[in-house]
Amino acid sequence: MPIIYFDHAATSPMRPEAIGAYADAAARGPGNPSSQHAGGRAARAMLTAARDCLANILRCDPGELVFTGGGTEGDNAALYGAARAQRLRTGRDRIVTTAIEHHAVLGACRKLEAEGFKLTVLPVDGEGIVPVAAAEEAIKDDVAVVSVMYGNNEVGSLQPVREIGKLAQERGAAMHVDAVQALGYEPLDLGALPVDLLSLSAHKIGGPQGVGALYVRKGTPFESTARGGSQEKSRRAGTENVAGIAAFAKAAELAAAGLDGRRGQAEAVRAKLLSELDALIGADAYRLNGPTDAEKRLPHIVNVSFPGLSNETMLMNLDLSGVAASAGSACTAGSLQPSHVLIAMGLETHFLQSAIRFSFGMGNNIEEAEKTAKIIATITKRLRNR
Ligand SMILES: Cc1ncc(COP(=O)(O)O)c(C=O)c1O
Repeated sequence: MPIIYFDHAATSPMRPEAIGAYADAAARGPGNPSSQHAGGRAARAMLTAARDCLANILRCDPGELVFTGGGTEGDNAALYGAARAQRLRTGRDRIVTTAIEHHAVLGACRKLEAEGFKLTVLPVDGEGIVPVAAAEEAIKDDVAVVSVMYGNNEVGSLQPVREIGKLAQERGAAMHVDAVQALGYEPLDLGALPVDLLSLSAHKIGGPQGVGALYVRKGTPFESTARGGSQEKSRRAGTENVAGIAAFAKAAELAAAGLDGRRGQAEAVRAKLLSELDALIGADAYRLNGPTDAEKRLPHIVNVSFPGLSNETMLMNLDLSGVAASAGSACTAGSLQPSHVLIAMGLETHFLQSAIRFSFGMGNNIEEAEKTAKIIATITKRLRNR
């Protein structure tokens, strides 16, 4: 049975060109970018080319990019790195974040709290957007780092990172943005964004898993968490994943070039899925979680609840029908925990327990949206009649 893959926010298939770039780099033979011999120099040249390519896309200085092992590592490094350095340098000891961040950010914030940092977690409104007024009130002169994501990974809500970043910088705090879901869908211009640290991941845009980058603006207080070699200008010890980084750069280049097309395609698939659901099960048989207005959300993520039907049962039935989607965060036992994002948005229990995320990407089309709506209609009818 052909799979309709609507889980691109979890991971997206590698682009053939990125696989090609990986294979080319891996096949070139042994070369540690820190070695002085020809093989090392060749590896270093690949790293430099990839860094230049990404810096060009993001409009930053290549020296401001640190290659990492993915989004989680970038989020952790940004928070530990900037918070500890700020405290040493300025005595500031408060972190401000939001209730809807990825666990990579929230977990790092909790760890820093256990180390003695104070933590302020900003609320969100019913659409999953942080009110700027809440940030305005929270960012005082004791704040070391502010961490607000660009676009949420569960409901797609875009956050006011420009306004909050400006406030943070004016008040002497470092501004971190998790842009893992925004890369490839939003033009990220680091020359214009008031951001000091920004984390990215390759596998959401057709690059390999386990590769990412952290932007660290020149002059930002930052202390490396890893101890070892002086790779990445001593900001991330450890031999770089040269082939993975080459593939990341290739995927980023293609994602940037095709940004408008990807946005348009995702919008079309999303609109078709929702209009077909309206037609087949009726608009009052489901709830859209997150912003409806296109200006307030990422185009490729849509979260819907089917009240009365548990998301676990729904996901299983979708899977059996060849549709891959997901829900909130999975706990280690494999059962579904209610999403902290939807809880923060104030959803009632029956909406929390029935929320499904569909996320679109390369290769998806409106026929798949149509088919998925039909499958959902069949499943909901069958389960509700039980
Ligand atoms: C918003 C956000 N941040 C961070 C991550 C973690 O990225 P990675 O899987 O590369 O560690 C994800 C992955 O789902 C994400 O969606």
